[in-house]
Amino acid sequence: MTDTDWWGPESNSQKEKSPDNNQINGSGMSAVLANQSDGYQNSIQEGIDDGAHAVIDLDAAAFNLSVVRAMAPDSKVMAVVKANAYGHGAVEIARTLAHADGFGVARIAEARQLRDAGIVNPITLLEGFTDQPQLMKIIEIMADVVVHSMVQVDLLKRTGFSGNIWVKVTSGMNRLGFPLDMLPRVLHELRKYKVLGIMTHLANADMDTSATQRQIELFYKGVSEFGLPVSIANSAGIIRHPETRTDWIRPGLMLYGVSPFPGQQSADLQTVMTLNAPVIAINRVRAGESVGYGSMWTAPVDCRVAVLAIGYADGYPWGTGNPRCVLLGGLRRQIVGRISMDMTCIVLEDEDDVQLSERAILWGDRLPVEEVALASGSIAYTLLCQVGHRVTRVYVGDSEDAAE
Ligand SMILES: Cc1ncc(COP(=O)(O)O)c(C=O)c1O
Repeated sequence: MTDTDWWGPESNSQKEKSPDNNQINGSGMSAVLANQSDGYQNSIQEGIDDGAHAVIDLDAAAFNLSVVRAMAPDSKVMAVVKANAYGHGAVEIARTLAHADGFGVARIAEARQLRDAGIVNPITLLEGFTDQPQLMKIIEIMADVVVHSMVQVDLLKRTGFSGNIWVKVTSGMNRLGFPLDMLPRVLHELRKYKVLGIMTHLANADMDTSATQRQIELFYKGVSEFGLPVSIANSAGIIRHPETRTDWIRPGLMLYGVSPFPGQQSADLQTVMTLNAPVIAINRVRAGESVGYGSMWTAPVDCRVAVLAIGYADGYPWGTGNPRCVLLGGLRRQIVGRISMDMTCIVLEDEDDVQLSERAILWGDRLPVEEVALASGSIAYTLLCQVGHRVTRVYVGDSEDAAE
């Protein structure tokens, strides 16, 4: 081999792409591209398949709801689909989870998006509203509201709101919610309204059992005299604190198959999102040469480096801390150098027979997002919610409830 042969991009890698390299065709399931208005979905149909995909397994989401139901058979489920269903696509997830007793969102625009898509389940605005125009919009889209301040009580009265209300109290989170001792007054003020129940939110259910126990006790002490339905549990509460499986539960993260406990994975849930990206270049790098911005990684020996079309603009976390890897051909390969805006580099092993367009998995079933989050100094919630706008959502699965 001459020096010129060896140096730079590999020359013979542009082979015909086999369907097996492609998550969509290789899955054996029907694939539905997200109905995005930005045209990204067209790139696949037109054969210009150059970016990252988030493959969303709708069957897995439906399965996870059935796990929740089995854990709390007497509870109604408010499936939390805010933040675009934690990056998975709110409309598709809501359609898949159509048997949920309701959906929880954070913003009015999120509720409107679901209504516009024909979702008829109750939708609760978990943060309520702050002015009259917002309340008018809420009335228009027939959403239920969480009321957590006297300002909101006054606005309700002035606007002639006649919808459903959740009263939120704080029992230790001290973020949104009335202090428990205000409840008698608040409920008196709201006596002419349809109060669905009283809710609180757990601050430490993913880590501190005794603090959570204190919250639960305080909450029950403060609400029991009113005989209203109650709602306490997020995913961590549902899993670790059975006493929070009350009238209504509010699972979010676990519906997406992810554990709410830092550094742990859930054996009982199924992974919903697989993030993958194609190889767009394979370069030979000499020992002593470095790769990427800041020259943060230097090749210890002559090697090949594959460049993936995914970067922090797609939501893959930047970070320079612990070593991270991807799955390529089912094998773990190490990420080297800094994550760029649009690209990520991995070092190949000598035996790797990698082709351009072959897709590497950034997280998924055998490389859990919880593990990637830990290595990135982040949390799985952040990674999922940050999956970028230009990442094409590819929906697979034939769950009866799934989006068509
Ligand atoms: C009020 C409320 N309830 C439930 C949830 C769902 O939490 P998790 O995703 O941990 O299940 C959230 C999410 O942040 C929330 O804000």
